Amino acid sequence: EHPGALRRDLEGRKVVVSAGGTKEALDPVRYLTNRSSGKQGYALARLAAQRGARVTLVAGNTVGLADPSAVEVVRIASALDLQAAMAEHAADADLVIMAAAVADYRPADVATTKLKKGADGRSEALESITMIENPDVLAGLVAARREGALRSESVIVGFAAETGDEGGTVLDYGRAKLRRKGCDLLVLNAVGDGRAFEVDENSGWLLGADGGESALPLGSKTAMAARILDAAAARVHATR
Ligand code: CTP
Ligand code: CA
Repeated sequence: EHPGALRRDLEGRKVVVSAGGTKEALDPVRYLTNRSSGKQGYALARLAAQRGARVTLVAGNTVGLADPSAVEVVRIASALDLQAAMAEHAADADLVIMAAAVADYRPADVATTKLKKGADGRSEALESITMIENPDVLAGLVAARREGALRSESVIVGFAAETGDEGGTVLDYGRAKLRRKGCDLLVLNAVGDGRAFEVDENSGWLLGADGGESALPLGSKTAMAARILDAAAARVHATR
């Protein structure tokens, strides 16, 4: 193998990647979303296909990214849509990567007609929106694997973007999140100062459920995708 040669280490494997933000409807014309660009998930899907995998990209809201070639793209809007799409497509996957930015909450009620202001120029429905928690899709996939709805040999990767504060460092929060989610690998991004969101470069750590930790140096999202797939593919090969 010469330098720069693309590994075909995912040949014959099925990889499912979620990417982008979810949109949570309030009425037929309004929704709530987040700043996810979708770039990291798209880079992972594109590279996994180049490395030989059969790839399904479950795509939410992005900054208008073009579909990667040779990848099946499934479009979703809400967290509930994402949950259903992942249950369907991840069932027979070898590798599942949850790069999507899932809304933690959604409006409790979705109006079927546009919410409008009254004669006084105000709308009670828009002044105070009651929100309810969305399901944790990643933790749900881990539970589904335990219950046999996903292949027991599948490898599940999560993402986290954390800031350090008086309660702990980025690494402390990342380690706790890895344990809480129960996934095999967590891609931990250090955010703050405009990093990670809406930019082309990230930095952080790769945390393994096996205790392995490695730094992810600042680099392009394509370079990050290569390192993430290296670590994930090693686990896929270790399981069978
Ligand atoms: N995730 C998910 N479903 C959710 C929320 C998050 O599947 N409802 C996934 C994300 O795709 C990501 C991982 O869980 O892979 C971590 O997301 P994050 O928002 O950092 O985790 P939360 O548990 O929502 O914690 P926080 O309170 O820090 O937002
Ligand atoms: Ca969250």
